[in-house]
Amino acid sequence: MREILLQIDGIDVKATETMTVLEAARSADIFIPTLCHHEKLEPYGGCRICSVEVETRGRTKIVAACLYPVESDLVVRTRSEKIDRIRKMILELLLAHAPDSPDLKELAQEYGAHKDRFEKEPSFCILCGLCVRYCDEVKKKNAVGFIDNGAKREIAFIPEIAAKECWNCKECFPLCPTSYLQAAYHLTEALAFPPSSLESVLKEETR
Ligand code: SF4
Ligand code: FES
Repeated sequence: MREILLQIDGIDVKATETMTVLEAARSADIFIPTLCHHEKLEPYGGCRICSVEVETRGRTKIVAACLYPVESDLVVRTRSEKIDRIRKMILELLLAHAPDSPDLKELAQEYGAHKDRFEKEPSFCILCGLCVRYCDEVKKKNAVGFIDNGAKREIAFIPEIAAKECWNCKECFPLCPTSYLQAAYHLTEALAFPPSSLESVLKEETR
């Protein structure tokens, strides 16, 4: 595989041609924040917190590091006034949905984001899609999916599948940056699992 030489934050970084800027940065221990990225999943580009500045052929632009492929002589800046401003704004928008998320709070501290800047719309889910994509791409179960569009978009467990597949998996739980996923699962379990599946789960768990 062809080797690519690029520069990230003034450091020469060797990458291979299939890498993204995020992967190249991580290989050189350079931190770029992410909220919707997972190394086992296809790149998604949903949250844009990984925005970085790239300079190529004399032009500078802002790109999502988790999507943007490396190229020879690319110059990448992972922090700048502009980048920090973008991340701060993204965090303030997300904090209106999930003000208590530990991941968001930590990043908010780093970028000086205020959790009360925007009117609260506590949906608690930031639509990173990690749960939905993990269940689809890694587990191939599709027990959780997106429903609705636009402002009404949310995740929901499919009770018939979740009742069979989730009780001994729950691998998506630690991926959720807000803990909404766990709450949604327990609500689905309480309200919508067929009684027969609940019985079998209880039997399995008390065995
Ligand atoms: S429930 Fe959590 S993991 Fe799933 S999309 Fe929402 S924030 Fe992301
Ligand atoms: S981590 Fe790149 S867009 Fe979310």
